Amino acid sequence: MFFLHFLLHIVVTSADVANINNNNINTNINNNINIAAHFGTKSRYEEVNPHLLADILAVNHSILRPPATERCSPVHVSALVRHGSRYPTVNNVRAIRKLSDLLRSQRPQEWTSWRRDILDGWRMWYTDDMDGELVHKGREDMRHLARRLSLLLPSLLGEEPVRRGRVQLLSSSKHRCVSSVEAFQEGLHLQAHLSHVDYSHRVDDQLLRSFERCPGYVEGVEKNHTALAEVHKFQDGQEMDGVRTKVADKLGLPGDSLTADLLEAAFFLCSYELAIKSQHSPWCFLFDQDDAQVLEYKLDLKQYWKRAHGHAINSLSSCPLFHHIFRTLDKAGRPRRSSEAPPEPASILIGHAETLLPLLALLGLYKDQAPPTADNYHAQHGRTFRTSKIVPYAANVLFVLYDCQRGPRLQLLVNETPVRFPGLWAEDAPLYRDVRAAYRHLLDGCDFHKECHGAHGGRGPNTEL
Ligand SMILES: *[C@@H]1O[C@H](CO)[C@@H](O)[C@H](O)[C@H]1NC(C)=O
Ligand SMILES: *[C@@H]1O[C@H](CO)[C@@H](O)[C@H](O)[C@H]1NC(C)=O
Repeated sequence: MFFLHFLLHIVVTSADVANINNNNINTNINNNINIAAHFGTKSRYEEVNPHLLADILAVNHSILRPPATERCSPVHVSALVRHGSRYPTVNNVRAIRKLSDLLRSQRPQEWTSWRRDILDGWRMWYTDDMDGELVHKGREDMRHLARRLSLLLPSLLGEEPVRRGRVQLLSSSKHRCVSSVEAFQEGLHLQAHLSHVDYSHRVDDQLLRSFERCPGYVEGVEKNHTALAEVHKFQDGQEMDGVRTKVADKLGLPGDSLTADLLEAAFFLCSYELAIKSQHSPWCFLFDQDDAQVLEYKLDLKQYWKRAHGHAINSLSSCPLFHHIFRTLDKAGRPRRSSEAPPEPASILIGHAETLLPLLALLGLYKDQAPPTADNYHAQHGRTFRTSKIVPYAANVLFVLYDCQRGPRLQLLVNETPVRFPGLWAEDAPLYRDVRAAYRHLLDGCDFHKECHGAHGGRGPNTEL
């Protein structure tokens, strides 16, 4: 069904409507699929796991990998989940409107086929009040994720724990997250054959939006122009300028009227219409794969310097979440007498890309040898820090704790794919005590108040974390 729609849409919006043939359609589809893998935090979850396009409830049980010889069983999962697909935020909507107005008001230097296709095939339909809210597809993202996780870990998220109300759910207070945590519960209930959903989540910004309560971060990075110098430099640099000029040409606009922000708005338009409506908007045809990679790099640079390894305070702002997760795991893994209540089977935490990235950075993941800068675009081609892969909509980080003969073991999965802990490369599910030893410096430190209220700023990139 999706694919048919997709094909039809390609046919009517293609820049080559006049001389379409089968080859042409295929090239266009391939082009656009490639572009869709470069939308950064605005990527669809299905770009990371394309097998879900064929079966959204497909679950691969071999992703759970405790050692086969130790008769392990899962006893707890802590899942940190990003909200599902959403509308543009108000700032994005304003940029989109500006771009739309520019195209409609500015007399073209030349009537190009791209310009014609956009003016004929697209109208401005975004409004300010959509402001980042979860879209229908975003609710589906969450319901489907919940159902897959329930199928993957039935003893922790299946019928029994759900019926008994034993799944703990916390959410950020933002509307899109609250809608997501509701949809997640709908998915769990559906999978447990329960028709009535008693929502039982709590809101906790202290945990899931701690960055905004960290003055060292807010003053030192978020409001500090210098902290994002690499991003601004790349934005004004030759790679971005090349794409800007090319796209302005395609639109028949004078080069200087299409600013870097408006260029980005055009790229995001393609991403939004794919994520929200599963459609390829005529905006998509403005970009080829090389253009998309340049724009993706700019998005990654921003997340790297603003939310990840770029400045140590970025990741330290997530200390409360780090401690919360390890306290929960400690409790779940503690030996107990048979008379004691069993541990909490699952803890679901719903937040933002801004919640996941700092925690992943704190854990030491996706840290390449050299930091991405404005000057090393070409050398960064094979980087592991790629937000399109790490934090698409509905991104998830799972900590699965197993009870095994030699003691508790912990496995990490990112977007339903096993990921090994830095320094513990030999095993997918190392002993929990070895994981604790690897993070000893954080378990004994990572003091939010000290880091966030102490002397701030001046923490350069690649300090001890
Ligand atoms: C399941 O996952 C494993 C490892 O991630 C992979 O090798 C295998 O091909 C997958 N199986 C299916 C049916 O997708
Ligand atoms: C702003 O960022 C720069 C570069 O990271 C840093 O040297 C400076 O101290 C920061 N300023 C403040 C007010 O924190």
